[in-house]
Amino acid sequence: MSRLSATLSRVKPSPTIAVTTRAQELREAGRDVIGLGAGEPDFDTPDHIRAAGIRAIEAGRTKYTAVDGISELKKAVCAKFSRDNGLDYSPAQVSVASGGKQILYNALMATLNPGEEVVIPAPYWVSYPDMVLLAGGTPVIAEARPGNAYKLTPEELEAAITPHTKWLIFNSPSNPTGAGYSQAELRALTDVLLRHPHVWVMSDDMYEFLAYDDFEFCTPAEVEPKLYERTLTCNGVSKAYAMTGWRIGYAAGPEPLIAAMRKIQSQSTSNPCSISQWAAVEALNGPHDFIAENNAAFVRRRDLVVEALGAIDGITCPRPEGAFYVYPSIAGLIGKTSAGGALIDSDEAFCTALLEENGVAAVFGAAFGLSPAFRVSYATSDEALSEACRRIKAFCEGLH
Ligand SMILES: Cc1ncc(COP(=O)(O)O)c(C=O)c1O
Repeated sequence: MSRLSATLSRVKPSPTIAVTTRAQELREAGRDVIGLGAGEPDFDTPDHIRAAGIRAIEAGRTKYTAVDGISELKKAVCAKFSRDNGLDYSPAQVSVASGGKQILYNALMATLNPGEEVVIPAPYWVSYPDMVLLAGGTPVIAEARPGNAYKLTPEELEAAITPHTKWLIFNSPSNPTGAGYSQAELRALTDVLLRHPHVWVMSDDMYEFLAYDDFEFCTPAEVEPKLYERTLTCNGVSKAYAMTGWRIGYAAGPEPLIAAMRKIQSQSTSNPCSISQWAAVEALNGPHDFIAENNAAFVRRRDLVVEALGAIDGITCPRPEGAFYVYPSIAGLIGKTSAGGALIDSDEAFCTALLEENGVAAVFGAAFGLSPAFRVSYATSDEALSEACRRIKAFCEGLH
């Protein structure tokens, strides 16, 4: 009898962690490696939020809390949805968990039965398909095309929906492409959903505040109020507030769904960290001016990377609307051989050779379900980015 569950055999280990591990091994061997794999801002958590965490410790707010969040945080979440998204929710419609990841996981665990499908647009955040598999469901991948800036069209969404579809997972701005759907682009998708009342929407708005230029963020329940009753609007403090380690995510949606998610959480993690919850209250209710300052750095870095990579023969690099990633296509480089003799027959081979030969760690597109491409995180210093782009150019010029 196997010691491991049958479910586990359906899930693959994280490819992003594999890249980070190999980069670390090379560094330990004395190699100079630039990491472009980070999924988190390189900024510190703002002082006023850290201070709220310290105050919570000093005030003894260090005990178990209500399963899906203290009422002060639920109220702050309701105020946020009303202020930023024009969405009215009561605290009973709100769930708080240990990160955006646990919110999504709870929702999938609470709703999926064997044979039920979840439509996931590709390129996707690496965890979506595996979380669906862990919850016993079936991921249905709907590929978006680079020619459409990696955004799903209504026709592509329509083609992916079957009578077994339970959820669409929607993520804008996106990890890994940074693509953000405009109001009109999102409306075209919500129109499709109106024709399929059995499909619910899990909107992962984690990068809401990392939106640049004149891009205006929007979320499905806001764009189409008729979807309110079947949408779980998910968000968290990890990215915009540089709080990845505090582990606080939240969502709002129909009360029975929120109650079901609470049940899963009550039998797994009990509640999110009490101290982090108080820090998140301050994050949501406190000043937000640091976001604009951080975003100015992100825009500068995005432009630096898009221009440098876009100028390389064989690479096409769209300029995305948000997040801190770009997703250059390397279709023009497949079939070549690197200076070190590696055949570049896939984006995985490209990223492996780039790391081994020129010391740049980036994640290959197959990990995100759309090839041939790779993901660059620009949440690192301008100097590191300039040097990384120089190395990528040298690597590509060495291909023959
Ligand atoms: C699209 C997306 N959703 C959710 C998450 C999870 O965020 P958290 O760290 O709050 O669990 C991430 C983190 O990388 C993400 O990129």
